[in-house]
Amino acid sequence: MTLALMDRKADFPILTRTINGHRLTYLDSAATSQKPRSVIAAMNRFYEETNANVLRSVHTLAEESTEAFHRARVSTAEFIGAAGSEEVVFTRGTTESLNMVARGWGDKFLKPGDEVVVSPMEHHSNLIPWQRLCQRTGARLRFIELNDDGSLAMDHARAVINERTRLAALSRISNVLGTINPIREIADLVHTVGGIMVVDGAQSVPHEPTAVAELGADFLAFSGHKMCGPTGIGVLWGRAELLDASDPVDFGGEMISYVNRESATWADLPHKFEAGTPNIAGAIGLAAAIEYLNEVGMANIAQHGRQLGETAYQRLSQLPGVAVFGPPSPRAALVAFNIDKIHPHDVAQVFDSRGVAIRAGHHCCQPLMHWLHAAATARASFYLYNQPDDIDALVDAVEATKRYFTI
Ligand code: ALA
Repeated sequence: MTLALMDRKADFPILTRTINGHRLTYLDSAATSQKPRSVIAAMNRFYEETNANVLRSVHTLAEESTEAFHRARVSTAEFIGAAGSEEVVFTRGTTESLNMVARGWGDKFLKPGDEVVVSPMEHHSNLIPWQRLCQRTGARLRFIELNDDGSLAMDHARAVINERTRLAALSRISNVLGTINPIREIADLVHTVGGIMVVDGAQSVPHEPTAVAELGADFLAFSGHKMCGPTGIGVLWGRAELLDASDPVDFGGEMISYVNRESATWADLPHKFEAGTPNIAGAIGLAAAIEYLNEVGMANIAQHGRQLGETAYQRLSQLPGVAVFGPPSPRAALVAFNIDKIHPHDVAQVFDSRGVAIRAGHHCCQPLMHWLHAAATARASFYLYNQPDDIDALVDAVEATKRYFTI
């Protein structure tokens, strides 16, 4: 197999580790990606040379820090094709971003009888905020059902989306099924009836070129830590007009225009959504991650990930006693599977004894587990630093697990 990317492991210090006497085979990037040396260095450099609070003081360090923070916002905006950096709100991650839309936009504009559309494959972060929003406002939560292969049933989407739909919230890529959802098609349906499209990009922004206009998104949420950046930094992108119309959800320093004893008015975008001292080092780390990803090339990363995901799916599905989930192709850079009668946590433990790191559990997708009739699954997920020998290690670990449990 000729992959889109050459071996990049040398850029990632952690990948030189051995685990339980084996070289580390890291197959848990959908949970969090590893960090290249350049990201770690950029964050260290910030703390060693520039650290100061942003948007407040006028001393040299504060100005340098504010400038670096602003540049991070500009490169993030460019990375997703935003119209301007004011459309990029820094958050703690995808979860906070989605909650911000539910409270800031949803609480203000939804009323009883309105409908919110999701799917059974959503991560809890893109489900519970909408459940709670519907409970607060009297809106109704509706689901686009799935085809047997784990793709969205588009006929059902056309039936569910109607003139009462105010909002659809869907993941572009499922963190369990590896399904790549046709967001643009759904967005077109939602826009035709006057609703807005919220996209959970947690698994897609790290893995494919993203252009918010082409995607048809009105809001897009994603996390830095799944795209070679640090934990604790994420993004809510929104069309300026929608962010302007939304209410802030956190209140305090630096998000105001004017405050008197009784009331306050809000700062311009994006600051009205960023109360308190932001994660400055996190934003700078995210910018370094974006620089790294741009250098590798997002189109290459997408092709590489799909090659690995599809190959792993094919190889695992040929093994007796192994069930794989989701569509064979096209699929994203991950594959969820179960080995006959063996609990996925036991699978993950045997894998770990061989240095192979995977995730096992419900993957924050309990409704999807019900749909799969599985309590949990194992999941191997890939990123730009994985190569075919990592799939060999995955297949060998499955065989070793079967031998261990003598099935
Ligand atoms: N949402 C992350 C995952 O799927 C944590 O593992």
